Amino acid sequence: MISALAGAAAMPIVLYGFSSGPLVRLTGAPGDSPGACTDCHSGTLNSFGGKVEILLPNGTTYSPGVTQRVQVKITDAEQKRWGFELSARLNSDLANGQAGDLNTVDGNTQVKCDGAGGPKPCANNGVQFIEHTSAGTRNGTPSPVTFEFDWTPPPTDQGPVTLYVAANAANGNGAPTGDHIYTTNLMVTPAATSTKPVINTTGVTNGPTYSPDGITPAAWVTIFGSNLGTTTRGWQTSDFVNGKLPTSLDGLSVMIDGKPAYVAFTSPTQVNVLAPDDANRGSVQVQVTNPQGTSDPVSTTLQDLAPGFFTFDTKYLAATHLDSTLVGKPNLLPSVTTTPAAPGEFVVLYGSGFGPTDPVMPADQLVTAVANLDLTKLQVTVGGLPAEVQFGGLIPNYAGLYQFNVKVPAGLTSGDQAVVATINGVSSPKTDTCCFLTVAAP
Ligand code: HEC
Repeated sequence: MISALAGAAAMPIVLYGFSSGPLVRLTGAPGDSPGACTDCHSGTLNSFGGKVEILLPNGTTYSPGVTQRVQVKITDAEQKRWGFELSARLNSDLANGQAGDLNTVDGNTQVKCDGAGGPKPCANNGVQFIEHTSAGTRNGTPSPVTFEFDWTPPPTDQGPVTLYVAANAANGNGAPTGDHIYTTNLMVTPAATSTKPVINTTGVTNGPTYSPDGITPAAWVTIFGSNLGTTTRGWQTSDFVNGKLPTSLDGLSVMIDGKPAYVAFTSPTQVNVLAPDDANRGSVQVQVTNPQGTSDPVSTTLQDLAPGFFTFDTKYLAATHLDSTLVGKPNLLPSVTTTPAAPGEFVVLYGSGFGPTDPVMPADQLVTAVANLDLTKLQVTVGGLPAEVQFGGLIPNYAGLYQFNVKVPAGLTSGDQAVVATINGVSSPKTDTCCFLTVAAP
């Protein structure tokens, strides 16, 4: 039609013939003519007994770049000819921000570009308008009538989008009189597809005890949350670089007080790290980063000591007899034999968070030699009785792992006996559910 009407003098003629598709900028959106189709069609907007609706069969959310169907449904029992114009705008620029791409699916609609109303592609990603064709007016068809087309949202998350529509429920007299004009709009928000990691509010815990009450440099920390690791595995030899502990596993890394922690285990809901060496104390922030993003920070307290024993099952200590067989009540664990400790016997316990040793061991590598704790500052009780500690310190070829050779007090009776270690006045947790050694007296 444009080519047949060369020259500015022809423009007034272009303004007519609206049953074959109106001008652009008539949807009622910001930046469009406020009167919408009532600029020519008699009557006041939305003042009749019908309505126009924007229907999204896939819901009012969008996934970037994923095409979805849009329906414009016009209802008006008095009328019999139908037309509409719709535009998709970015909420960040409602007047001029084209949101994605509109496409026809049948002959009832057509797409025009902002400005002269030319066909797609629209220059400079200008605003698009989808509207009825002459055939789409379906003269003589009773209410309701639906127009269908496709909307492909922006290829990236551009925030909320609003669809604006103006519709004409017309009487079919071939003139802009006696018609009913309706407008409406519908906001569409990006679907919640964020896979950004999230640390639970109390999810930064002492490695072996899961206590949320603070962590210690060079000690084990267990982090609970969601969308943490994208894989599930522990570190392996190939993750170590030049003898240094890995600071990331499969793209999962953890910062404690702005310093990279050493990642020993990654999974979507739990991450185990060795905290880095750090001279700071008090409140510090912990953040998890994975290929999808970085979590919001969660606070914890960095303290000198946070002693805790490793357990088999969160309740019973991970303990061995001196012959390396496991200590525990019978059938404590599937498929391995466990036997109770006897009063007077030495057992081996394992812990984390007991603080500096002699010599001091750097946190960034596996411990290279036995490093002793000052045993004069360490007390261990079993079942409330003081227990002799023959050795306590970091052991080689592990990271942050303290071993204790502890004599089960001779006077103990049979049963589950609570084990508590106190170093420099700070004690390991003792609750109804942790931490016990099963003792069987002869
Ligand atoms: C610039 C003036 C003007 C505007 C704005 C306008 N129209 Fe029209 N429209 C007309 C004229 C003139 C006619 C009658 C001539 C024809 O049918 O082409 C008409 C006819 C129609 C008809 C057929 C009416 C019937 O009863 O047979 C439909 C449907 C229609 N327009 C839809 C729309 C829609 C939808 C809008 C708003 C998005 C709109 N028009 C905006 C001038 C306009």
